[in-house]
Amino acid sequence: MFNDVYQGKKVLVTGNTGFKGSWLTVWLLQLGAEVYGISNEVPTTPAMFDLCGLRERITYFEHDVNDLASIERRIAEVRPDFVFHLAAQPIVSISYDDPVSTLATNIMGTAHVLEALRRSNHECTAIMITSDKCYDNVEWVWGYRETDPVGGRDPYSASKGGAELIIKTYYHSFFKRPESNVRVASTRAGNVIGGGDWAANRIVPDAFRAWGTDQTLEIRAPRATRPWQHVLEPLSGYLHLGAQLYQRKELNGEPYNFGPVERSYSVRDLLAKLTQHWEFGALEQPIREVEPPGFHEAGLLKLNCDKALHDLGWLPTMNIDEVARLTAKWYAAHYREGVQDMLSYTQAQLDEYASIARSRNIVWAT
Ligand SMILES: NC(=O)c1ccc[n+]([C@@H]2O[C@H](COP(=O)([O-])OP(=O)(O)OC[C@H]3O[C@@H](n4cnc5c(N)ncnc54)[C@H](O)[C@@H]3O)[C@@H](O)[C@H]2O)c1
Repeated sequence: MFNDVYQGKKVLVTGNTGFKGSWLTVWLLQLGAEVYGISNEVPTTPAMFDLCGLRERITYFEHDVNDLASIERRIAEVRPDFVFHLAAQPIVSISYDDPVSTLATNIMGTAHVLEALRRSNHECTAIMITSDKCYDNVEWVWGYRETDPVGGRDPYSASKGGAELIIKTYYHSFFKRPESNVRVASTRAGNVIGGGDWAANRIVPDAFRAWGTDQTLEIRAPRATRPWQHVLEPLSGYLHLGAQLYQRKELNGEPYNFGPVERSYSVRDLLAKLTQHWEFGALEQPIREVEPPGFHEAGLLKLNCDKALHDLGWLPTMNIDEVARLTAKWYAAHYREGVQDMLSYTQAQLDEYASIARSRNIVWAT
């Protein structure tokens, strides 16, 4: 898998205590990497980071990415072979409550990681995670391409557009020079779902928090469509891109979209699929529709992933039914079946995902 590039390598994951960071950590440990993490806190209770006992399996540093001196010191000390930068304030509604700290963390936090790498200048491959929301969303029906302008009406989207500009600047000003030992690429993926997410104001965590405690789920935008994908899909893209960038210098500085190829499904469609894998017991009304939010939330946003296919051979692996099944089963294991060893359960889901990928000749799995 991934040409065995990660075996024995030092890999730093920022945002390692979050949803995507925890899955990425479990996967990197399976791939034989020595994992280091930087986050400012464990962001939720419960958290997959805790349930999987990841603190004991990696070297974890608690730092704020707004603190350049600490980030610089840690990167100089660890000298990671790979960096996956995921640390961010990732919630649109929170960005309206606290725009300045969202902009600081997501833009300057990205600048601080890149600056620490520039100053250290050891050999390192850095994969920077932004978002599909980095694009200037003109609400058209076509998929956004990596050459489309970045932008953003809400502070979260602007922060991710800003992060993209910073990454581009660091590439053109520093990392493309012959004396640079750092290679960098940015990745733009959309809404991900999967077991182990407990972030606020996201539909899937909201659903299982409610259903896990036998309560009705309130939804505000049942017809909103999103390019839902399982968390392992973009992670396969990040890991594949990291392995490719490590081996192919010509990918330095490139941005990539990682999204589904299937049509987008509405919130209502997605919930209907999730409910098929959940035992409701006495709960009479699993879902109730309520007033929409008072702030602007972007409508349709679709990614064009032709570049990832052309340059990297990357394609997503699973269809929406498989995504819903794996997601609901993970939460059922935690809430309904009382599974204590969620690390083994998560590893088993990873094995299942890799085996589906192999059976479909997905490039990173073969
Ligand atoms: N989850 C999604 O649907 C989605 C979609 C597109 C992009 N993304 C991006 O993927 C990345 C990970 O998202 P997630 O869903 O795992 O979010 P999450 O909230 O679960 O995790 C965020 C992580 O960043 C850390 N963090 C936040 N502020 C920090 C700071 N100031 N200093 C250091 N660490 C800090 C948190 O402690 C946590 O480890 C983010 O960059 C997010 O914007 C997520």
